[in-house]
Amino acid sequence: MTGGEIRPLRIVVFASGRGSNFAALLAAQRGGAPIEIRALLSDKRTAPALLLAENAGVEAIALAPRDYADRASFDRAIFDRAAQFTPDLIVLAGYMRMIDAQVVAPWIGRMINIHPSLLPKYPGLHTHARALESGDTVHGASVHFVTAELDGGPVIAQVEIPVARGDTPEALAARLLPLEHRLLVACVDLIARGRVVLAGHAVELDGQPLRAPLRPLAAQ
Ligand code: GRF
Repeated sequence: MTGGEIRPLRIVVFASGRGSNFAALLAAQRGGAPIEIRALLSDKRTAPALLLAENAGVEAIALAPRDYADRASFDRAIFDRAAQFTPDLIVLAGYMRMIDAQVVAPWIGRMINIHPSLLPKYPGLHTHARALESGDTVHGASVHFVTAELDGGPVIAQVEIPVARGDTPEALAARLLPLEHRLLVACVDLIARGRVVLAGHAVELDGQPLRAPLRPLAAQ
């Protein structure tokens, strides 16, 4: 490695379904982002994300929760598998399971999640419908460091979209998704460059605690 270059950030991605956020990370790697996606892990044997990984030459591994005695055993197994790839960062990209607090603990500061709401609003499921039911005029997505609290860890960055009259949950989700992809890639890039870290409970950018979530797509 010569001066100025950085070692690619080793990433393991967890996904339960379609995998469009995973695909965005693959595209970023192909496009020269300083990342090395080492594996895709899933809790669903039928997840389309697994095929995306195989087609991209990335190791694809599925573990079935029903093969384990309880949630904590499954979580230990899938995180042990992830650890074999010695990731610098685990990215939860549409990973639809709660994770045991003791399993999360050693990964705090080294695991992020993309969530389709403006956290702290609407942790959990059905975020688009809940935003519409509340009459929100603005909706969005967040990337945050993962802690034991579901969708409750320190937020790194957000993207906003206006809610239009007559929007449905499906329409909102469809408008938000391409921005989620860009948001996730932007956050991973900042972490890969060592610019964003978790220091205690605070997200830092370039050594300074964030006062509010970053808006990396705002100026574009
Ligand atoms: C995304 O909306 C993500 O924010 C949420 O689940 C969805 C996953 O989509 N957590 P995909 O599997 O990445 O296409």
